[in-house]
Amino acid sequence: MDRIRIAGGRPLNGTIPISGAKNATLPLMIASLLTPDRLILDNVPRLADVIQLQRILGNHGVDVMVAGKRPGDTAYQGQTLEISAAHVIDTTAPYELVSKMRASFWVIGPLLARMGEAKVSMPGGCAIGTRPVDLLIKALEGLGARIDIDGGYVVARAPKGLTGGHVVFPKVTVGGTHTALMAATLARGTTIIDNAAREPEITDVADCLIKMGAKITGAGTSRIVVEGVARLSGARHSVLPDRIETGTYAMAVAMTGGDVLLEGARPELLQSALDVLVEAGAEITATNEGIRIVRNGAGIAPVTVTTAPFPGFPTDLQAQLMALMTRAKGTSQITETIFENRFMHVQELARLGARIHLDGEKATIEGVERLKGAPVMATDLRASVSLVIAALAAEGDTMVNRVYHLDRGFERLEDKLSACGADISRISG
Ligand code: EPZ
Repeated sequence: MDRIRIAGGRPLNGTIPISGAKNATLPLMIASLLTPDRLILDNVPRLADVIQLQRILGNHGVDVMVAGKRPGDTAYQGQTLEISAAHVIDTTAPYELVSKMRASFWVIGPLLARMGEAKVSMPGGCAIGTRPVDLLIKALEGLGARIDIDGGYVVARAPKGLTGGHVVFPKVTVGGTHTALMAATLARGTTIIDNAAREPEITDVADCLIKMGAKITGAGTSRIVVEGVARLSGARHSVLPDRIETGTYAMAVAMTGGDVLLEGARPELLQSALDVLVEAGAEITATNEGIRIVRNGAGIAPVTVTTAPFPGFPTDLQAQLMALMTRAKGTSQITETIFENRFMHVQELARLGARIHLDGEKATIEGVERLKGAPVMATDLRASVSLVIAALAAEGDTMVNRVYHLDRGFERLEDKLSACGADISRISG
């Protein structure tokens, strides 16, 4: 298994290109199941999760063609996928595939809407929590589907098609909103989705569905209204920049000090995180090339943050912020309200000398003068990158093990950081 070695203590200066958003790419690829025509996606990041989803879609008979590099393309250019679900040959998503990449469970909505049936393995839990899908199932029942649980599979049927309905989510769920939205595009009649997730990735998927002929209003607000149509067509859509990658590198620069342009980043996608970084002492400037982040020698100020659905502070940046706060001049508090077990990085940060006290969903971080490099273990995608952030400012060498977690969500992380002066390298095997 690959490992990443980091010799800390160097500032970051230069430019980091921001890739297309993983959490938009995955549902956008799944939306291809809604039409027999070709869907073309630009600015797709090169990530393990994208490759895994290509395999899963292939199992349903979907053709995914990855366009080669065009002359003049830089290494950082996102890739273009041409996806065609002309003939869906299998409406079953098997356990061995779904258990590897949870978001693949979201194929259930489009398969049911287009084929009238879907048999999708329950994804099972993961490192950060039990990750139930009860709200996704309830949403589909609200659109007229008949759902049975059989042998670990969700078996959904709508032989006469779906009918528009009023879906009210008791709590904000990104996956639930994606599922209801995609299924509603082909349902007969009008669907209203209340307490919908407002994440930018929802809006990006809705923009693509509208290009495909869907009739959607209100994406990005808590109430989305969908007029069902008989059929969707192909389209071409460019994936929006990854706000979590943007926030992650911004926190890395705030941690090491330096001056970096996050190229292609859009501030409105992560304003709450940028506000916290300014409070912590970083200077943030929006330019027409992206976001410039500077942190000079004045040190890191402590903050108190609670994670929340968009537009609140994102849970996917919680571990990264915690890493930054380990070296603040004072005591910080971070409360995690979205997932029940998203503090796996705390024990690993403690190995680097961090002082963090946990009390249920609340973490209290007492800033320390210095961190010292040590071997650490990545446990989940965002926790692993928080270890990288801490290691960049630790004295001596840190070895981050199990970096396959990193490769799921961060494209060429070590290249992007070493291009800005970090002493970081991947050790294969
Ligand atoms: C999406 O996961 C993201 N994944 C997650 O990012 C992100 O952390 C999460 O949204 C919250 O923003 C993708 O977009 C691929 P939820 P999702 O449904 O949709 C509970 C990353 O690191 N819930 O919004 O699975 C759930 O347990 C990943 O990129 C139910 O109870 O999250 C959680 O407590 C990690 N029943 C809360 O809702 C359900 O049926 C929010 O989950 C569904 C969810």
